[in-house]
Amino acid sequence: MTQIISYHYFAEVDSTNQKARELALAGAPGGTVVCAESQTAGRGRRGKNWESPPGTSVYTSMLLYPQLNGTAVSSLTLVAALAVRSAIARCFPLEPMIKWPNDIVLDGKKVCGILSEYDTGKDGRPFVIVGIGINVYPRPFPPELEKKAACLASASPSRAEPDRRQALTEAVWEEFLRYYEILSQEGDFSLLKEEYENYLVNRRRRVEVQDPLGAYCGTAVGIDASGALLVETKEGVKRVDAGEVSVRGVYGYI
Ligand code: BTN
Repeated sequence: MTQIISYHYFAEVDSTNQKARELALAGAPGGTVVCAESQTAGRGRRGKNWESPPGTSVYTSMLLYPQLNGTAVSSLTLVAALAVRSAIARCFPLEPMIKWPNDIVLDGKKVCGILSEYDTGKDGRPFVIVGIGINVYPRPFPPELEKKAACLASASPSRAEPDRRQALTEAVWEEFLRYYEILSQEGDFSLLKEEYENYLVNRRRRVEVQDPLGAYCGTAVGIDASGALLVETKEGVKRVDAGEVSVRGVYGYI
């Protein structure tokens, strides 16, 4: 069972995923967590940047050496989504939803992104870095994100109440290890499928799957035991694996 071994705090890093990777290559154990107040080269999915100013958000990554098969490893981002959703509901009076595979959304806007990266240590041992960025307090978003990004709290901590980012970060990793244990025991996502589907904002909605082999539309009906999205189309139900394929609502982000 993986436990949190240590928290490493930084005022500024290039990317907490990168820092965790460096720690892995220096032999750090699984359960090592990196947190930063800001990132100068925060990484998003599909090669995008993740803007990471100080004072408003959570930027954190955990190093893991999962003893899982390849399919279960790819479920780790879905596990992280469940964990963030649940941690937010614990720390704030909010009930966020999950946009498949791993965006956390509130009122149709994205409040968190998750990036899992895979590599091999010097000893040949594969490792995974699960990186999480949560928009907690108000901040200006770049124009292209204004319509689809949001934050959890409407007021900054200085004006309202104590900063809750630390408590949220701890809750995230506590929840993550709880769900990760279930995934590891079962060997696939099947025991978590029902809970995940309860929070799946795409469920029963029309989606557009941007498959490199050709985009198509359908209705999202749920996920399978590996965490793949099931999309009902005219040609039957298609499985969509999380990866480079992007899924969005036919009329917008959701
Ligand atoms: C996405 O594009 O939705 C994923 C964004 C992931 C951002 C987080 S912030 C902490 C960690 N470090 C990074 O460089 N990226 C992830």
